[in-house]
Amino acid sequence: MSLLRVGILASGNGSNFQKIVDESEKGELPAKVVVLLSDRSDAFVLQRARNHQIPTYVVKPRDFSSQEEYEEKMIEILNQHCVQLVVLAGFMKILSPRFIRAFKDKVINIHPSLIPAFCGKGFYGMKVHQAAIEYGVKISGATVHFVNEDVDAGPIIIQKAVLVSDDDTPETLAEKVHRVEHEILPEAIRLFALGKLQIRGRRVIVKE
Ligand code: GRF
Repeated sequence: MSLLRVGILASGNGSNFQKIVDESEKGELPAKVVVLLSDRSDAFVLQRARNHQIPTYVVKPRDFSSQEEYEEKMIEILNQHCVQLVVLAGFMKILSPRFIRAFKDKVINIHPSLIPAFCGKGFYGMKVHQAAIEYGVKISGATVHFVNEDVDAGPIIIQKAVLVSDDDTPETLAEKVHRVEHEILPEAIRLFALGKLQIRGRRVIVKE
């Protein structure tokens, strides 16, 4: 069986990246991570990729004269590596409609809440968990969705909930959410690779 060629964009630690690579190397995923792009040269995810001989590229917006040129560079690299699915795994930059159109229905993102709660501009990283705790929700979780032209608003592929307990802090909630992210992101890639995801308007139908 041919493996889906996945390109990952990440800005930070890369635990989701690691999980995808590990499952792929164990033969548990019909996909292969062929390239990693980061906007930060100090991101630990770069080291993780090097440990697995995965090509890495640091592409920083400030090295380009416009957002368009910056994204053009990323599109070029992803195409050079014949990427069939782009996975945003903790990527802290918002991509323009132009980039999204270049990989139409082929970009997915993981977000650390149950969308549409605690998402959109300004809700990233620990801020999401802080907001969830402050609001007093009893359930939070993670969402994998297709990326469209609005932030965190594309059709939802999978969600998984976690219970928020009275003594949770943003940090402990982040840990719980990370654990479910590590389940649902590889699962979404698996479903995509097997051709089981069908977008119908706002809904994603998972075919048998
Ligand atoms: C995750 O919480 C993800 O939902 C968010 O960024 C974080 C990345 O974590 N988009 P890691 O770098 O994969 O550990």
